[in-house]
Amino acid sequence: MIEKIKTLLSEIEQLKASDANELEAARIRYLSKKGIISTLMDDFRSVPADQKREMGMRLNELKQKATEKIQSLKEQFETAGSTNACIDLSRTAYPVPLGTRHPISIVKEEINDIFKRLGFSIAEGPEVEDDWHVFSSLNFADDHPARDMQDTFFVQNDPQIVLRTHTSSVQTRVMEKAQPPIRIICPGRVYRNEAISYRAHCFFHQVEALYVDKDVSFADLKQVLLFFSKEMFGEDTRIRLRPSYFPFTEPSAEMDISCNICGGKGCPFCKHTGWVEILGCGMVDPNVLDNCGIDSKIYSGYALGMGIERITNLKYQVKDLRMFSENDVRFLEQFQPAY
Ligand code: DAH
Repeated sequence: MIEKIKTLLSEIEQLKASDANELEAARIRYLSKKGIISTLMDDFRSVPADQKREMGMRLNELKQKATEKIQSLKEQFETAGSTNACIDLSRTAYPVPLGTRHPISIVKEEINDIFKRLGFSIAEGPEVEDDWHVFSSLNFADDHPARDMQDTFFVQNDPQIVLRTHTSSVQTRVMEKAQPPIRIICPGRVYRNEAISYRAHCFFHQVEALYVDKDVSFADLKQVLLFFSKEMFGEDTRIRLRPSYFPFTEPSAEMDISCNICGGKGCPFCKHTGWVEILGCGMVDPNVLDNCGIDSKIYSGYALGMGIERITNLKYQVKDLRMFSENDVRFLEQFQPAY
């Protein structure tokens, strides 16, 4: 009987069926009431008592193997059958929804493009920065309010390691490594410890531009600002510069453009002034050049920095800053880059 079981086991292992009828025939042969295995079960009664235990186990194993094999062959037929039924090559394909670009990256690319046409190249730096690159090298006095806990995120409570509060930190990183002429723009994300509301967020994006060479003057800066504004907001755009203060530029200015929503006539967006502020700028303070190993007696430079969210708002009038980071597809899919 043992021999018989062994032969049957190997027979079942190699069992194949090319269609459902063959499979049913195999099932009847091995597993039906009058099939081989049932007959063996009947013979089992006459097995001597001392062999009953082992024989019983082997018989059960045989029955289980046969059931599993028949079941797996059955499943093969079923899945093959369902695939065949689904293939309809004449059917129209499902539409693949195309994603859209994020408005911030659309506008960032536009800004980059304008400066690239003027010969600026892109530079990047880390978002987790040290105090030197974000503040000290840029001429911030030790007690400058921008270092205050309220503005700056410190990493692991270490006053020397911060999340950069502006992309001006990339200026110093570049100037430390390269000698003039330097002509770079630095787009990137910045962080400030602000309460989140429709008009402020704890992170946002800036683009910084820096040009250092011999004989760079405020007139060069003004020309680039005018060119940028017209390219970005249209040929009719006017600019005005108001004196301001930044630790890293001297003299410093803030630039307004004529409100591109009302054309300068006055509207709620420009608070009825006809002007909107879009960036800070100035001549690089000689201390900053010297801090970075550039001789301020030979070289001079200008720098400017703007918030990408602000420019995006002017282009698309998004009233709530939080929309930019909420990943709401209904909002995002409205933006298409202007190719
Ligand atoms: N870093 C300044 C800020 O975050 C913006 C800025 C102002 C950048 C004047 C400049 C500049 O390069 O010259 O508010």
